[in-house]
Amino acid sequence: MQRRDFLKTSALAGSAYFLFRKQALAATADAHIEVLVDEPIATIAPEIYGHFTEHLGGVIYDGVWVGEKSSIPNVHGIRKELVEKLKAIKAPVIRWPGGCFADSYDWRDGVGPPEKRPRRTNFWEGVESKDGNATHKYDPNQFGTNEFVHFCKLIGSQPYLAANLRSLPALEFDRWVEYCNSPAGSTTLADLRASGGYPEAFGVRYWGVGNESWGCGGNFTAQEYAAEFRRFAAWVPRYGMELSLVASGPNDDNWDWTRGFLEEILRKGPGQLRSIYGLALHYYAWNLSRGRTRDWNEGKGDAIKFDAVDWYELLRQGQVIESLIEGHWQVMGEFDREHRIKLVVDEWGPWYRPGSDATPGNILEQIPTLRDAVFSGMTLDLFNRHPEKIAMANCAQLINCLNSLYLAHEDRFVVTPVGHVFSMYAAHQGGQALRTIFSAPTIDYDRDGKSASFWGLKGSASVHDKDLTLTVVNPHVSDGRETQVVVRGAKIKATGATVLTHSDIHAHNTFAENNVVAPKAQSVEIREDMLSFRFPPASVTKLSVHLL
Ligand code: AHR
Repeated sequence: MQRRDFLKTSALAGSAYFLFRKQALAATADAHIEVLVDEPIATIAPEIYGHFTEHLGGVIYDGVWVGEKSSIPNVHGIRKELVEKLKAIKAPVIRWPGGCFADSYDWRDGVGPPEKRPRRTNFWEGVESKDGNATHKYDPNQFGTNEFVHFCKLIGSQPYLAANLRSLPALEFDRWVEYCNSPAGSTTLADLRASGGYPEAFGVRYWGVGNESWGCGGNFTAQEYAAEFRRFAAWVPRYGMELSLVASGPNDDNWDWTRGFLEEILRKGPGQLRSIYGLALHYYAWNLSRGRTRDWNEGKGDAIKFDAVDWYELLRQGQVIESLIEGHWQVMGEFDREHRIKLVVDEWGPWYRPGSDATPGNILEQIPTLRDAVFSGMTLDLFNRHPEKIAMANCAQLINCLNSLYLAHEDRFVVTPVGHVFSMYAAHQGGQALRTIFSAPTIDYDRDGKSASFWGLKGSASVHDKDLTLTVVNPHVSDGRETQVVVRGAKIKATGATVLTHSDIHAHNTFAENNVVAPKAQSVEIREDMLSFRFPPASVTKLSVHLL
C-alpha cells in the first residue's frame, strides 16, 4: 500500500468512525435541534423585550411609585429595587399610562407641582375591590409624565406613551408631545417641564394613538378609528426627531379590524401609510374551559391551582399568538406591500380569574408560577422567530398585575419566575435571529375525553458576533428530553446552560419564600462537535455557546 493510499484509507475509516459515533449519539437522543448559523432571519429588536405599566390596581402606586418620603428605598419616589432589576435585564422600553386607563387620562393632571395636582377617579374604580388602596380608586397624580420619564431614564429604557384618543381632542395630543419634546426654553410647556426639574426635552419617540379603540378606547369601528387616527397623526409637532406612532390594532383574530383600518387609511392615498410605525396587537391567553365556553368570566382558570391538562391548555392558548402574528402580517401585506408597518404586540400574557393576588385587593394581580415562566419563554421564542414582523412587544404588566416580572408591596419585593425568564432571554436583544429546526415527539394528552396534542420542544436562536444564544422550552410536565444540538455553519468552542425549572409545576415565588423558582447554571457536554443536553421537564433553558 502506498503512503497516499494508506492516508486515504485511514481518512475514510476515520470519517466512517465519526459518522458511526454521531449515529450512536443520535440513537440515544430523543430530540434534535439544528441551529443554522448561515441562515439569519433579521435582527431581534431589543424592544421585543418591552414592558407595560398602567394606573391599575397596585401597578403604579405601591409597585413603581412609593413616594419620595417613603422609608422604602427609592430614587425620587421610584422603587429602587425595581429600577435595579430593570437595569439588569436591560429593559428596552416601557409603555404607560395604559391600557384602558390611557383613554380616560388627561396628561395635564400629572404635571406641575405635585401638591397642586388633582385627584381623579381611576378608569378601573368600578372594578376596584373594597380592600383596594385609595390611590388605586382615586388617582392622586403624583406619578405623572416627569416621574414616568424619569423612571425610564434611570433604567435606560425608552418611554412609550399612550395618548388619549377617546376623550381628549387631537390638540391635546400635540400639546403632550410639545410638553415632552419641545426644546428647553422654547415653549410655555417646555418651561412648565423645566419648572419640575426637567429643562431638557425628554425626546419621547414612541406614541400610541389610543388603546383598544375597538373597545374601551372608544368603541369605534375600524373605519371610524382610521379616520380619527389620520386626524391625530396629521402634523404632530416633530421638534427635529422622528416619532413612531402606533395605531390601535386588532384584538386576537379580528382580521376585519386590520383590513378595515388599512383600507380606510389608504382612502386618502398611499402616503398615509408613512404616518404609521406600528399596528398594536393585543392577545391574552385566558380560556382554560377546554372548549366548553367562550365567556370571558366563566372561561378563565386559576393561576395557582391547575392540573396537567390546564398546563397544556394554557400553552396551547399562548401558542395561538404565532398564527395571529402570521395572519395579521399577511393582511397588512395586502395593503402595505413593502411591509413598512410592523406589529407592536403591546399587551400579551396569561389572564386568570381573580383570587391569587399577592396583596389582597390588588385587582388583576396574579401570582405567576412555573407555568407562566414556560408560557413566557415560549412567547419570547416565537417573537424571536418573527423578528422581521415585530418591532416591539410589551408584557402585560410589569409589576403587581397579570404576567408580572415582579411583585411588591410596601417594603417587600420578589422576582417571579417570569422575571427570571426575561433575565435569561435578555441575551437575545439586538442579536441576529437564526433559523432553527426542532424535532421532538409531540405530547398527547386527554382533553376531557378527546385527544389533544402539543409540540414537544421549541425555542429560538440568535447570535452576536461569536456568541450564540439558544433558548429552549420543554413543555412536558414529566418527561425530560435527551437532545442533540447541532450548530451548522460554525464550530463550537465552549458552552454553558442556565435552567429554570422545578419538580412541582405549580412552584412560584412569594414574599416569604422568594427563591423557590430560580435559574441554575449547568454544564453542557460537547461531543463530536455536537451538544448533548437533557432538557428537564417543565423547563426553560438558555444555552450560551461560544463559536470559533
Ligand atoms: O392589561 C389590562 C387591560 O387589558 C388593559 O387596560 C387593556 O388595554 C386590556 O384590555
